[in-house]
Amino acid sequence: MKALVWHGKQDIRCDRVSDPEIEDPRDAIIRVTSCAICGSDLHLFHNFIPAMLPGDIMGHEAMGEVVEVGSAAKSKLRTGDRIVVPFTIICGECDQCKRGNFSVCERTNRRKDLAEKVFGHTTAGLFGYTHLTGGYPGGQAEYLRVPFADATHIKVPDNLTDEQVLFLSDIFPTGWQAAAQCDIEPTDTVAIWGCGPVGQMAIRSAILLGAKQVVAIDCVPERLSMAEAGGAIPINFEEESVVGRLNDLTGGKGPEKCIDAVGLEAHVTPSLPDTLLDRAKQAMLMENDRPHVLREMIYVCRPAGIISIPGVYSGLVDKIPMGMAMNKGLTFRMGQTHVNRWTDDLLRRIEEGQIDPSFVITHTVGLEEGPEMYKVFRDKQDSCVKVVLKP
Ligand SMILES: NC(=O)c1ccc[n+]([C@@H]2O[C@H](COP(=O)([O-])OP(=O)(O)OC[C@H]3O[C@@H](n4cnc5c(N)ncnc54)[C@H](O)[C@@H]3O)[C@@H](O)[C@H]2O)c1
Ligand SMILES: [Zn+2]
Ligand SMILES: [Zn+2]
Repeated sequence: MKALVWHGKQDIRCDRVSDPEIEDPRDAIIRVTSCAICGSDLHLFHNFIPAMLPGDIMGHEAMGEVVEVGSAAKSKLRTGDRIVVPFTIICGECDQCKRGNFSVCERTNRRKDLAEKVFGHTTAGLFGYTHLTGGYPGGQAEYLRVPFADATHIKVPDNLTDEQVLFLSDIFPTGWQAAAQCDIEPTDTVAIWGCGPVGQMAIRSAILLGAKQVVAIDCVPERLSMAEAGGAIPINFEEESVVGRLNDLTGGKGPEKCIDAVGLEAHVTPSLPDTLLDRAKQAMLMENDRPHVLREMIYVCRPAGIISIPGVYSGLVDKIPMGMAMNKGLTFRMGQTHVNRWTDDLLRRIEEGQIDPSFVITHTVGLEEGPEMYKVFRDKQDSCVKVVLKP
């Protein structure tokens, strides 16, 4: 089959590889009908997150038709079923899965040894996301083996298009969880850094959850326009002071809730010395991540507010103002998304027409064009916000 394969830093190719096979009775195989490129894939493209190996298949947002089912998954899945595959592989049975903490499932990471060394404890297996999370082949491919498929799936009805439901795999529940973890009150201002696909979903989610006002921060005009169309007040951080504007919008008090939908590759604003220091330290391997957005959120957040972090960080960050956060009494909530915790509710909202997540798609291309589209998405060329690939 064809698949997008990681060969090294900024080197992803569309290769011929062997088809996946059932390896465990709980597996299923799907024929992928649609898959997408995520901002998290860009961190791998840039080799910021260690533990990718040449030959690894990329991708963790995929859906398709079940073509083969292992004996132990047959009670839940049949060939012909149409499923979306959550990026978190879940067993559905361990202590964490029972609590709905699916992204820290205790059983699905087949490289627990590595994860325990690096994180202290294991986290869930993820598709196409390094050997720290199991080294599972990803879904930017013609076929995908879904491990623990009896638990790891979202069945979707035939009357919804791929485009409407594909993002249940990741970015829709990710934006939703980011907003839900803010415990939004009707009087709240929610400020969201990053208007990429995750930020866009967080904006719509915060509005559906009843925020008084939602403010969206980025520097890419068409992403800010999309945010505005979704009901947010835009701030272009290259043109105005984020802190100044947020204080103006909140009577000087600061937003109650702040969401970091940027993560470890925050842009440098040349006038800000902290980002330059982070760039230098990252280059010298003294720091993995550039936490400029985190610092800005801690500074501007209203005391007793909530900082919600869906943006991915990989390792060590420097100069986080802990004293400021502690004295302001801020609450931090973060994590990879517990996808299946939210998807029944979100599928219902799509069916009811409360939201159509396909608004975010700007590019639909064949799998062969995937390698080029990584660059187009990374560089925001051609007004690119979200790329869907059709294998
Ligand atoms: N927690 C999860 O489960 C989960 C799931 C999916 C994605 N993610 C993470 O969410 C983040 C966003 O993903 P995406 O797909 O939207 O990626 P993206 O790269 O398309 O979006 C990031 C956006 O942040 C903007 N940005 C950069 N620096 C900024 C700054 N200083 N202030 C404000 N905005 C800034 C960029 O212009 C860009 O539009 C990534 O870190 C990704 O890894 C996490
Ligand atoms: Zn993702
Ligand atoms: Zn589990």
